[in-house]
Amino acid sequence: LIVPVILAGGQGTRLWPMSRAARPKQFLTLTGPISLYQQTLRRVEDPAVYTPAIVITNSEYRFIVAEQAEELGHPLAGMLLEPVVRNTAVAIAAAAFYAINKFGAKAVLHVLPSDHDVAVDAGYLQAVERAAEAARAGRLVTFGIVPTAPETGYGYIKAGALISDDINAVDRFVEKPDLPRAQQMLDDGGYLWNSGMFMIGAAAFLEECEALAPETFAAARDAVAGARTDLDFVRLDEATFAKAPNISVDYAIFERTSRSAVVPVSFGWSDLGSWDAVWKASPKDSAGNVANGAATLNNVTRSLVVTDHAHIAIEGLDDIAVIASADAVYVGRLSEAQKVGPMVKVLRGQP
Ligand code: GDD
Ligand code: MG
Repeated sequence: LIVPVILAGGQGTRLWPMSRAARPKQFLTLTGPISLYQQTLRRVEDPAVYTPAIVITNSEYRFIVAEQAEELGHPLAGMLLEPVVRNTAVAIAAAAFYAINKFGAKAVLHVLPSDHDVAVDAGYLQAVERAAEAARAGRLVTFGIVPTAPETGYGYIKAGALISDDINAVDRFVEKPDLPRAQQMLDDGGYLWNSGMFMIGAAAFLEECEALAPETFAAARDAVAGARTDLDFVRLDEATFAKAPNISVDYAIFERTSRSAVVPVSFGWSDLGSWDAVWKASPKDSAGNVANGAATLNNVTRSLVVTDHAHIAIEGLDDIAVIASADAVYVGRLSEAQKVGPMVKVLRGQP
């Protein structure tokens, strides 16, 4: 069986003001009746394929993680709590140590971001099976999406030689390129987007982690060894966890390991990383508008309105995003919605 590891500790700043530090994107119902985190749990429910899931998150989100799993009747194999924010490298390493303790040294982990929109079809299930096979053979496998635009918010994977049916070695992994570099890779061809979903043997991953990111390895090992159980939660030891460098798994491991492989996939996938992406993933009216909440739109085209309480009325505009939460409103060009991220940093007083 495969052990699902769900990453649920990110802050999703680009979907401000709906996605807030206290209630980030993965816990919102953006594309349907259940949250993105709950949709992720639904994808790993088949007991013939998966063990119960391990969720790793910031301790601030512990109750929402537990409640939303309970709402689905989904039992968890562990809720690991990070005492401070240190990004995904150490989070995955800690989950790997925990999984080995719980499921044995041969555990294969399906690492899943909790905030994506994924269409499960036969192709998806087949890709999962193939990836698990390669992971059992010692590969660190990523799921690669055929790119459609020079996105700078994604990692890019240059597929190498075929190593088995539909699985390629990785020639190069480029995390978050600048725009000219992204455009260059798109023009060159042969690159895939890193979906951020991984299939890894827990032991193989930790070997690479020890070699390439020894401080991350040590912090994860000690934080799990010194963890304290509190109700249903596993609180990672703060003093040792805090020593981990703040780095994502992409920079710490995937850009640098020689053991990676990629499964090219073609199922529907969106990172929902911006309001623009939410608009793209949602059904639209004949003018190309999406209104989630009370809205009156006159002569408005290709726009997105999301509102909790206020009634939004717009006259004569194109390509507009209006996002109104209880205490903050964002207005901007929908096509430039990536700019919300930098603006939120300014609002938070970060440089
Ligand atoms: N537990 C935990 N702790 N989870 C975290 C943390 C953390 O400190 N930081 C982020 N996460 C979770 C997020 O909630 C998300 O589900 C996942 O880890 C990935 O983090 P993001 O912050 O969303 O990463 P990204 O979108 O910038 O980049 C990654 O995903 C892209 C695809 O969406 C990279 O893997 C890229 O290469 C990839 O293209
Ligand atoms: Mg993301």
